Amino acid sequence: MQVYLETYGCQMNEYDSELVRTILQNGSFRMTPELDDADVVLLNTCAIRESAHQRIHGRLGHLYQLKKRNPRLIVGVLGCMAQSLKQELLDAHPVVDLIAGPDAYKKLPRLIHAVCDSGQKGLEIDLSEYETYSDIVPERVPGVNAWIACMRGCDNFCTFCVVPYTRGRERSRDPENIVAEARQLAAAGHKQVTLLGQNVNSYRFESTDFAALLLRVAALPGIERVRFTSPHPKDFPRRLLQAIASHPKLCKHIHLPLQAGNDAVLERMRRTYTRQEFLALVDEIRATLPEVCLSTDVICGFPGEDDAAFADTVAVLEQVRFDSAFIFKYSERRNTIAQRKFADDVLEAVKSERVVQLVALQKSISLERHRRAIGSTLPVLLEGTSRKSSADLLGRDDGNRCVVVPGAGLAPGMLVPVRILAASAHTLLGQALTPAGSRVGSRP
Ligand code: 5AD
Ligand code: SF4
Repeated sequence: MQVYLETYGCQMNEYDSELVRTILQNGSFRMTPELDDADVVLLNTCAIRESAHQRIHGRLGHLYQLKKRNPRLIVGVLGCMAQSLKQELLDAHPVVDLIAGPDAYKKLPRLIHAVCDSGQKGLEIDLSEYETYSDIVPERVPGVNAWIACMRGCDNFCTFCVVPYTRGRERSRDPENIVAEARQLAAAGHKQVTLLGQNVNSYRFESTDFAALLLRVAALPGIERVRFTSPHPKDFPRRLLQAIASHPKLCKHIHLPLQAGNDAVLERMRRTYTRQEFLALVDEIRATLPEVCLSTDVICGFPGEDDAAFADTVAVLEQVRFDSAFIFKYSERRNTIAQRKFADDVLEAVKSERVVQLVALQKSISLERHRRAIGSTLPVLLEGTSRKSSADLLGRDDGNRCVVVPGAGLAPGMLVPVRILAASAHTLLGQALTPAGSRVGSRP
C-alpha cells in the first residue's frame, strides 16, 4: 500500500513524520509524494491554535471529495489534533478512518491493516509515560539540517497551552541513542542538527543534563553546527550558557519565549517568572554571549490583558530588542487551565490590533538589528535555493538569521564567510568570500 503523509505544525511534528515514515516503511508500506497515487492519506496535525484546526477541517473537506471518487482510500489523522479531539473528529468527519496520537505511531501499521481488513474505524490515542521512540532512527530527507527529538511531552502546564494534553508527560531520551543518531546523521552528510524539546532545560537522563548533551553532540566530527529549541526562561541554567560560550559549534542563538511582559498576565499564564526576572536573564545571556541573537514568542490578548498590561509587553520588546519574534493572537484551547479559569474576554478586534502593532514594532527592531550587520563578515551555512531567485542560495548565520547570496560556485552544505552588504527586516544580503578573501558567485 502507498501512503501519502502531510505535516502541519512545529519541528517536533516534522520529526515525528520522519518517525512515522520509517515505521511504515519497516512495516512494508511505501511512501508516495503524490496524493493521487495514495491508498492511505495521513495528516500529521497541530492543535496549538484554532487556525491550525481550521486548516485540517478544510483539508478533510477536500479529502472527502477525493474519497467520493476513490471509496477505498483510507484517511488518517495523526498528531496533536488527533489526540485532543479523538472520537469527535471521527464523528465530525465521516471521511476519517483512523486516529492516532503522538505516542501511538508504532501501532500504525497494525492499525492501518485492521481498518483495511475490517472496514471499521481505528482509534489509538493512549498517551504513554515512557515512549521516546528511542529505538527508531528515522530516515531523513537529505538536507543540511536534521531534527532530533531529545525529549517528548511537557510538564509545564502554561495555562494557555494544549501541549501537555496532546503530547503527555515529559520524558527525556537516552543520550546514547541521541548521540548515535547524530553520528549517523553526520555520516549521511547532514551538517547541522537541531535538538528539539518542549523545554530543553529540564532535559535529564541519569547524570546527563542538557549542557552535557549539547557538548557531546557538538564533539562529533562532521557536525558543523548544533542548535536547539526551546528553553524555558524560568530555569535557564548558567552551565548551559557557559557550554554555548565554550564551543564554536554551538550556535549563538537562543529562542526565549517571553509570552507577555506584564507580571499579572505572566502569573495567570503560569509562566513562573516575572518581567524583571526575564530581563535579568536577557542581561546575563548577553553578558555571557555578546554576539547572541535572541528570538521570542508573544501572545496578544490573553484573558484580562488590558491596555496597560499590553503596554508592558510593548515596553519589554522595545527594551530587549529581540532579533526576531513570533507574535500570536491568544486562541482559547479546550480543557486548558485558562479555558477553565478565565473568560476569553479580549475582543477579537483588539487582539488583532495588538498583533498588528507588535508585528510593526518588531519589524522596525529587526530591521535596525539587521542593519548593524552590514559591513561585517559572517560564517553562513548554505541550506538551499532562495525562494525568490534560483540563482541565489539561502543560508543562515550562527545567530539563525537568513542570509541570501549569489549562488554561482557554491552549494548547499558549504559553510562560507559572507560579507553582508544589505539588510531587510527578514533577510541579510551578502556576497560569499573564499577563505582567501576573494569573492565567489558575483552577481551578473
Ligand atoms: N494561543 C496562542 N498562541 C499560543 N501558543 C501556545 N498556545 C497558544 C494559544 N493557546 C504560542 C506560544 C508558544 C508558541 C509555540 O505558540 O507563544 O510559545
Ligand atoms: Fe507542535 Fe504544539 Fe502544534 Fe503539537 S500542538 S504540533 S507540539 S506546536
